[in-house]
Amino acid sequence: MNARSSVDMSVAHWQAVCRLEELPVLGARRWLQGPEPIAVFRNAQDQVFALADRCPHKGGPLSQGIVFGDRVACPLHNWTIGLSDGCADAPDEGCTTAYRTRVVDGVVMIEVSDTV
Ligand code: FES
Repeated sequence: MNARSSVDMSVAHWQAVCRLEELPVLGARRWLQGPEPIAVFRNAQDQVFALADRCPHKGGPLSQGIVFGDRVACPLHNWTIGLSDGCADAPDEGCTTAYRTRVVDGVVMIEVSDTV
């Protein structure tokens, strides 16, 4: 192995966040037990999304933004961020970390990584 090559030493696992009914429709909860503060969103179609709670513009708290469709409007300067990919709508540029989510037996879960 080349000594300069990097090896991904992270292990992903699913972490329970809350029950779906504890997540407000068109709202978010801030989850602080992961590698960084994570905003967990629920839209009008009961889809659940998770993004790092940090806008790609200047770090605004996306968990305090307005959810519409599959997007959230940042509360600081109104950039629109995709809930699926964490990326700003053009002409704005930049992305925040998006986490995979699932709902199992009414429990909202997000996939986080631990570095080992
Ligand atoms: S910090 Fe989010 S739009 Fe500026």
